Amino acid sequence: MSPMESKTITDTTLPNHLQETKKGPTEFKKNQKRYQDLIATLPHAKGWFANAPYIGYGGHWTVQPLLEGWLYTQEFFQARPIDFFVCSYPKSGTTWLKALTFTIANRSPFDHSSNPLIKRNPHELVPFIETDFPFFPQDDVLNDKGNTLFATHLPHGLLPESISKSGCKMVYILRDPKDTFVSMWNFIQKQRSNHGSLNNLEESFDMFCRGFSWYGPYLDHVMSYWKAYQENPDQVLFLKYETMRADPLPYVKRLAEFMGFGFTAEEEEKGIVEKVVDLCSFETLKNLEANKEEKHKERVPGIFIPNSAFFRKGKVGDWQNCLAPEMAARIDGLMEEKFKGTGLLEHCK
Ligand code: A3P
Repeated sequence: MSPMESKTITDTTLPNHLQETKKGPTEFKKNQKRYQDLIATLPHAKGWFANAPYIGYGGHWTVQPLLEGWLYTQEFFQARPIDFFVCSYPKSGTTWLKALTFTIANRSPFDHSSNPLIKRNPHELVPFIETDFPFFPQDDVLNDKGNTLFATHLPHGLLPESISKSGCKMVYILRDPKDTFVSMWNFIQKQRSNHGSLNNLEESFDMFCRGFSWYGPYLDHVMSYWKAYQENPDQVLFLKYETMRADPLPYVKRLAEFMGFGFTAEEEEKGIVEKVVDLCSFETLKNLEANKEEKHKERVPGIFIPNSAFFRKGKVGDWQNCLAPEMAARIDGLMEEKFKGTGLLEHCK
């Protein structure tokens, strides 16, 4: 089934996917013990939540259930040369890029009213390889061989080998770490889990700056894709949230071209690019019923988040309402130090 055909909305009340089915345990379950044995040998550090320590793997940090997913995906995810990847650090514009890539790839014949994006949250249309693939193998899009769009928050160095071997293209989005942190801080307040009490903002910020966050350190995450871009600019498109937010049109055109779905002169004349931008805009998506959904949905084993949590303010500079000037100066300093001489900041202007 192609992603443009109508599909039933995933029933979030289904029993836990990790339970054994009539056919037997899921592939992930068959391998889980091996991952848990390995994880027990890895460094553990205090997390933002009292009962969810961060575990260090491959130079990055994450929590136990997610790391099990990383390991399964590294071992089993088979990319094909036609696959395209939306890559990002959490809270830096993933949902937006999922909506854009999906709409770009499925725009013909373009008709707002029949686009699945109207009825389904972008995360249901572009699956995450390190969560949907291991934990939700029954996902309809994953089981659709015609789907070529995937997403990941994995740093470049931890991507499954099959992605680089297949020469897959990918887009990465960079966001100001101050807004990324504030977005993440607000997002995790909406999560339901048994991870216990949450640090206060100052402590979480300090940890974020020291690299302790999901998929952190953030700046190393950015650098991993920047290096990949420099080594192979035909394979990686590097975008910046702030510049796209100021003027999305040229970047959406560039993204479409990069994906191999460039807009024709006729489409441009008919205002199709503007329509894609409009449909995927924060304002449009936030107000759709599917994205207003408040019901908590399991995204990672034991972690439940509602669709509405992916649409908060969509602003550039909201950090000013949360971070003291010295906090901002600290993270700006770290960023300058990390990116100095790399050409990254100049590239994203
Ligand atoms: P804020 O919390 O600052 O509002 P991610 O998609 O990577 O989880 O990032 C979420 C952030 O992107 C949130 O930022 C969210 O509001 C914003 N966002 C979601 N959809 C967007 C869109 N279509 N355009 C711009 N920003 C969007």
